[in-house]
Amino acid sequence: MKEQLSNILREAQQIYFQIKNLEELENFRIKFLGRNGLLAQISDSFRNLSLEERKEIGKYFNFVKEEINKLYLEKKEILTSPQKIIFDLSHPGIRKDRGIKHILTQEIEEIKKIFFTLGFNIEEGREIVTEEENFDSLNIPPNHPSRDLWDTFWLNKKNYLLRTHTSAHQVEFLRKYGVPIKFTIIGKVYRHEATDQRHEMQFHQIEGVSVGEKSNLVELKSIFKIFFEKYFNKKIDIFFRTSYFPFTEPSLEVDINCFLCQSKGCQLCKKSGYLEVAGAGMIHPFVLRQASINSEKYFGYAFGLGLERLIMLKYDIPDVRLFHSTDLRFINQF
Ligand code: PHE
Repeated sequence: MKEQLSNILREAQQIYFQIKNLEELENFRIKFLGRNGLLAQISDSFRNLSLEERKEIGKYFNFVKEEINKLYLEKKEILTSPQKIIFDLSHPGIRKDRGIKHILTQEIEEIKKIFFTLGFNIEEGREIVTEEENFDSLNIPPNHPSRDLWDTFWLNKKNYLLRTHTSAHQVEFLRKYGVPIKFTIIGKVYRHEATDQRHEMQFHQIEGVSVGEKSNLVELKSIFKIFFEKYFNKKIDIFFRTSYFPFTEPSLEVDINCFLCQSKGCQLCKKSGYLEVAGAGMIHPFVLRQASINSEKYFGYAFGLGLERLIMLKYDIPDVRLFHSTDLRFINQF
């Protein structure tokens, strides 16, 4: 009898899913719960059982009846209140706040990828370097006035400082790899400067170095063209202006055409039509010799890009200090 009851329950559960309207529901009710329904029929035969058996089966009978009744009521509720949405797909879940990569991290990853595809090794270097690395090896002897180009944070330990530029690693990696070689150094640099909209005490540089028998400024220009067109996703023209760095000869300032106004003159380019984006030049033979490279046979170019400046141009960010602020309104935009 127990088996009979559980078969009835299973059948009811199966039919439950097929009921599509009130008429079918009524048939369901009559079939299982009606006065001559399956349950009623079974309860008639209880009479033949002993008191003990009746007690046990009765319990199970009540359970089955209740379950079927629940199914009936549940379906009734669904069918009689069609407005009620059982699964509301538009109902938002519980939102979990997820962190995102900081814009600086995102852009560094992107820039690394571009230079990697252009055949450059990717390096980082240390932020604490020696005076020799940051200055002497780059043809900037002690007490030379050109040291004033880099406002330096000196550390208490003699000869040590926070690198003022990623050029501090040029000789280190040239020594490490030998020639020919192409590598970039991407990382944070420090300058003892007053901060304002365009200056920060810490910022990032992307250093590029290429040394080989045929490295030249035409190649540098092509590398820049590919890099900037990929990075800004626009057609870009590259312009060289002469400049001065002790470790390059000739030295250049690199400009690109202002992509915001097509060089007509706007706020971004300060009406000049050009945007200054990098310092560069042919590596001074002095620097090559520091790395024990034959400067008669090998030539190289080097460049230094300011990461924050590039990002500010790309996304029209007005103030460099925003990068190190904890203002989530800024950070979460990217
Ligand atoms: N290191 C220079 C600076 O910080 C930039 C630079 C790099 C210039 C490489 C020439 C070659 O100003």
